[in-house]
Amino acid sequence: MTNEELMCLAAEARKLAYAPYSHFCVGAALLTSSGRVYTGCNIENAAYSPTNCAERTAFFKAVSEGEREFAAIAVTGGKMGEKPSFCAPCGVCRQVMAEFCGADFTVVLGAPGHLTCMRLEALLPASFGKANLALAEEN
Ligand code: THU
Repeated sequence: MTNEELMCLAAEARKLAYAPYSHFCVGAALLTSSGRVYTGCNIENAAYSPTNCAERTAFFKAVSEGEREFAAIAVTGGKMGEKPSFCAPCGVCRQVMAEFCGADFTVVLGAPGHLTCMRLEALLPASFGKANLALAEEN
């Protein structure tokens, strides 16, 4: 699975976005270390805060199916009816990535034909995680 192929799956997933409030559609494709792909789209809600981002939809689908090891995620977004383009993952999604992925987890951003790859470490430096809780228990 190339990064370009993963991005194409994210663009396909974006077509299923449920975004009647923001009209901003996002798709994600999450690659496991064993080579499986779980896709996701954003799912909005009339009460706004229950909205789930595309990246978290993909992670929660995968984790709920027993997956724990991940290699990369592709994300693409943009206004409804327009071509997919660059969409930076929100902070909550970065934190969810950090729960399951290490510093070298690859985040593929952009759109089919225009990719930018970033390490999770660059997107969420000095993150809060399991290690901080272990430290807190010692004090
Ligand atoms: N959104 C995502 O799906 N992923 C992100 O990382 C950024 C934002 C969605 C949430 C909401 O449905 C819409 O984009 C506008 O914020």
